[in-house]
Amino acid sequence: MAVRVLSGVQPSAKLHLGNYFGALKQHIDLQNEPETVPFYFIADFHAMTTLQDAEAMRRNTLDVAVDYLAFGLDPKKTVYFRQSDVPEVTELAWMLGCVTGMGLLERAHSYKDKIAKGISPSVGLFYYPVLMAADILIYKPNYVPVGQDQVQHIEMTQDMAQYFNNVYRREVFVRPEPRLSRTPKVPGTDGEKMSKSYGNTIELGLTGKELKKVVMSIKTDSTPVEAPKNPETCNVFALYALFATEAEQAALAERYRKGGMGYGEAKKLLLEKIEPYFAPYRAKRAELVKNLDYVREVLRDGAERARAVAAQTLKEAKEAAGLI
Ligand code: ADP
Ligand code: TRP
Repeated sequence: MAVRVLSGVQPSAKLHLGNYFGALKQHIDLQNEPETVPFYFIADFHAMTTLQDAEAMRRNTLDVAVDYLAFGLDPKKTVYFRQSDVPEVTELAWMLGCVTGMGLLERAHSYKDKIAKGISPSVGLFYYPVLMAADILIYKPNYVPVGQDQVQHIEMTQDMAQYFNNVYRREVFVRPEPRLSRTPKVPGTDGEKMSKSYGNTIELGLTGKELKKVVMSIKTDSTPVEAPKNPETCNVFALYALFATEAEQAALAERYRKGGMGYGEAKKLLLEKIEPYFAPYRAKRAELVKNLDYVREVLRDGAERARAVAAQTLKEAKEAAGLI
């Protein structure tokens, strides 16, 4: 039987290494797994919780779509669309909200973190996990490939699926499982999780001096050049490992442990890895931005296919709840 995978990425900023190695790379790789049908979308409704500038929303949405296509998204293998083109998710979100207790949402880490940072929350921010549950459950996926930070949202989705199925005594929804990449928590330049909200990202499009500046700013400890160093606790090494082969990693780890190499040298090696790795992507990207009509067409076609699936699930949910 076909395996369905689904994931979404918000169009709230330029994509970074964490997004790529935590989510995007496995999204693209999954297209080539046998019997797998991926559904990926641009979560513009979710981005409204933080991005409230119409021009930026339009620009970022196209930007994310261009990024996915530049990394090799194949619209023949994958259903790729914009969340808001499938309004059925907002109807389902309401229905799920009515079987979900406040307590579940009050426990959400991402919500609690934002409150702790002093953000005064909108109703939308609080409701965010319900919309996320709706846009997962409506496509009945088996797996949701994401980074570590989204796992709690998927567990909440599992709970909401069960609440609904129990209340209405019908197996409308399939239980989705999170699927993590080999690097589900990429560190940022300061050693914390790389995230646009922490200002510690390395953006995918950076080159030359700009890239160099960011890489050179990666935080390291103050071990002197001649002293042995621990690769396992070093951010530069962790980032290098994303790009290097096993043998290259072993060679650099050896140099760390031997001493006599400064962090500046390790940063140079990292820099030499990043630039060429993303060169084909940048070239493809430059081509795609000249043909945005094609990009829009991919999204339109994806929305049509996604909507057909969503409408069917919504119908089942409405029947279960006595709305039809
Ligand atoms: P950000 O934390 O920068 O706001 P998003 O929440 O938009 O990023 O994340 C989009 C996708 O990228 C999600 O699947 C998320 O789990 C993944 N992701 C984000 N940051 C990282 C990271 N540092 N390491 C691994 N995956 C990440
Ligand atoms: N909340 C996710 C993020 O910030 C984006 C998202 C919205 C998502 N809906 C989703 C991810 C459904 C996976 C499945 O990264």
